[in-house]
Amino acid sequence: MINNHDRVVTRGLRDVAAAETKISFVDPMGTLYYLGYNIDDLVEHVCSEEVVYLLLYSKLPTKNELGEFRAQLISEMTLPEAVIECIKSAPKSSHPMEVLRTAVSHLSMYDSDRDYKSEQANKKRAIRLVAKVPTIVATLHRIRTNQQLVAPNEEFSFPENFLYLFRGKPADSEEKNVIDRYMTLHADHGFNASTFAARVTASTNADMYSAVTSAIGTLKGPLHGGASEKVMYMLDDINTEEEVEAYIQGMLDNKRKIMGFGHRIYQTEDPRTKHLREMAENLCCLTDNLNLYNLCIRIENVVHEKKNIFPNVDFYAAVTLNALGVPFEFFTPFFASSRIAGWTAHVIEQYEDAVLLRPSSMYVGRYGRPFVPIEKRKAADNL
Ligand code: COA
Repeated sequence: MINNHDRVVTRGLRDVAAAETKISFVDPMGTLYYLGYNIDDLVEHVCSEEVVYLLLYSKLPTKNELGEFRAQLISEMTLPEAVIECIKSAPKSSHPMEVLRTAVSHLSMYDSDRDYKSEQANKKRAIRLVAKVPTIVATLHRIRTNQQLVAPNEEFSFPENFLYLFRGKPADSEEKNVIDRYMTLHADHGFNASTFAARVTASTNADMYSAVTSAIGTLKGPLHGGASEKVMYMLDDINTEEEVEAYIQGMLDNKRKIMGFGHRIYQTEDPRTKHLREMAENLCCLTDNLNLYNLCIRIENVVHEKKNIFPNVDFYAAVTLNALGVPFEFFTPFFASSRIAGWTAHVIEQYEDAVLLRPSSMYVGRYGRPFVPIEKRKAADNL
């Protein structure tokens, strides 16, 4: 018998490099790169469709390539009727992330060559998913609120169309800018839990829809993308800046995590936070809701003083989406609608790596238990 106690368990896989990647780098010192480009440059100078193109083709598009790519994305935004029916049939009590997970799984049955994995077929499928995931989210919202479904408009950019399909009215220039930057900032982030889940599924050579379904299920958790929705419940619970100190102390005394704070990799502020903080401030100003923004700043200061941790991407993303009129339970679906770009890029990279991701474990259970036939078994024997 192998003495498996010689194995080393790295709890939570902290600092374990599970594979090589060229897609994005999360520098613990507070910088994020997509394909070598600093996120700060991308969010200021390129649109989110260019970012999706970059993730899928490893280069920024020319003007012509961008025009064609945008048209392709928008033309792929429609859903098969059966998927719309599947969304309609979801119980009203289900969470939008449950419906999204199910609808993506359903979508796979309407891709007749889902198992065909040439490079070209994979890219085409990735574009299909990048385009259809936001439509699933928007469709669910329209159905839940008894509003007419809206068709994409070729005059609008892809992120603008997402907001348009969701809210049924064109975005103003500030909102266009915000949704575009939001989607860039959420497009990829190294081997985060949902991306890793997608890569594990892809490593078995399963189809891309299965990989994305795994990723959606993983993003849903409150320690990952589910945090942004919880941030808003916390902000709703605290009425004034004066209450912040006692509220946070109470959470910490009860060993509860403050949602939207802390990060596995960054030892300093998450590089996406400053952009989202600025967007949240502008929107709170425009919507006459500066009290909310000031409350956030107070929370940030108190949590930093007490725990020396910083807000992560989810904290100000929550305030930003709230100001755009997105209901709380749709925050994580908005995250998924942006991260789908990174997930599909990673799935393709994993197919190219062609290795099964299958770790070992350290067995700490018992050996050599005496077998007792069922007729002679007593409850106590099974302890
Ligand atoms: N609230 C309170 N304390 C926190 C915290 C938070 N949000 N995040 C980390 N900490 C504390 C831990 O309690 C621990 O303190 P201790 O050393 O005194 O015990 C220390 O910081 C290290 O935290 P740890 O849980 O080991 O970090 P991790 O790398 O395992 O977890 C997260 C990272 C993201 C899961 C964690 O920060 C968290 O749960 N955050 C809230 C959920 C969230 O916002 N998720 C979105 C992530 S992008």
